[in-house]
Amino acid sequence: MTPGQHGDGATRAQRPLRIGLIGCGNIGQIHADGLRKMSEDGEIVAVGAADPSEASRTAAARNCPFEYLSDDARRVVDDADIDAVMITSPTSTHRDLVLSVLASGKALFCEKPLAPTLGVVRELCAAVATATRPAQVGFHSRFHPIVNRIYGLVDSKELGAPMAYTLRDDQYWPTGAVVPGHSSWRSQRDQAGGGALLEHSIHAADLVCWLFGPAVRVSASTRAVFGYDVEDVAAVTVEHTSGVVGNILSVFNGVRGREERRFEVFFENGAVEATTDFIVGAAEDSYLVQRPDAAPERPDLGALREEFFTMLALPRRDFVFYTYPADRHWVQCVQAGDPARPGFDDALRAHELVDAAYRSAVTGSIVTP
Ligand SMILES: NC(=O)c1ccc[n+]([C@@H]2O[C@H](COP(=O)([O-])OP(=O)(O)OC[C@H]3O[C@@H](n4cnc5c(N)ncnc54)[C@H](O)[C@@H]3O)[C@@H](O)[C@H]2O)c1
Repeated sequence: MTPGQHGDGATRAQRPLRIGLIGCGNIGQIHADGLRKMSEDGEIVAVGAADPSEASRTAAARNCPFEYLSDDARRVVDDADIDAVMITSPTSTHRDLVLSVLASGKALFCEKPLAPTLGVVRELCAAVATATRPAQVGFHSRFHPIVNRIYGLVDSKELGAPMAYTLRDDQYWPTGAVVPGHSSWRSQRDQAGGGALLEHSIHAADLVCWLFGPAVRVSASTRAVFGYDVEDVAAVTVEHTSGVVGNILSVFNGVRGREERRFEVFFENGAVEATTDFIVGAAEDSYLVQRPDAAPERPDLGALREEFFTMLALPRRDFVFYTYPADRHWVQCVQAGDPARPGFDDALRAHELVDAAYRSAVTGSIVTP
């Protein structure tokens, strides 16, 4: 039997992809909403969802009518009628789940960060490298239309080569000690692996490696202002293989509701300034392009979004988070047997940047990832 075929000889592309979800908390419920959309469109079947918490299972089921719910992830992993599994449980649980899904031969989606430590991330990347089915990581910022516009400018060299950037990335502290109803594993280093930089701004680390190449020199300072054993502030200076240099400032802040990414990129012949959030059409979204001897251009953001979503051939627009286009991309890659991006090798570069930053913060020296 070749990869992508079932025992009955029918190819996976001949039936909607049958998906299981492991982890029904905050982000699992958001993915569940996307799964419902795709199942309504006949693109997938939402087969099973697993979580030890009944409250989480019930909340995920409100967003998507799974065929069954279970308190045991093994039910989904071992289900021969499931083709592909999304892992959206806490970071510390990813290792065992990723390895068991790979052993089952199913396609895989895993949320970021892949693991609390770089050693485990490397172990998972090595295991995925030998897998025959697509594996994608939850860096859904790569499906943001403004970020893709910036990628297009880098790729086309329309403004010359990129030279330097600043990226300020902040989010309200997403821990149960601060936000009623939230879980609290993010406050614990053994569970989360790190704070603002690893848990949140690994999205930023992924974006700058995607745009400018892997990091080659990193220096950083971190602080823990709120009293947890993970950092809530990280200031990182990065030099990339391309020669581009930049700064990432990552903050878990105390301003309820605040979440914003401010990205400025300087090219040889131009500059861009962009503000983005994780929500489609967020009020803080902005995008400005400055060319020599010209007034700043402020493209219409609605038109820019529409152009991007049309390019992705998205069948609907009633989604709030960029997880939907990311998840749909994964489904299409699995159906086609194509490599799914961003993959584990992309995630490894982001993790290496973050790990180098943490080592630099401890030693006070410049670190090579
Ligand atoms: N891509 C993004 O923007 C994004 C956003 C939020 C969270 N995340 C990541 O997603 C993961 C989950 O985060 P969250 O905010 O949803 O956490 P959460 O605490 O809100 O939810 C986690 C859920 O997983 C369940 N769970 C724990 N162990 C499990 C196991 N072994 N099998 C099945 N379920 C299990 C918990 O009961 C809980 O319901 C983390 O790795 C986090 O970093 C990514």
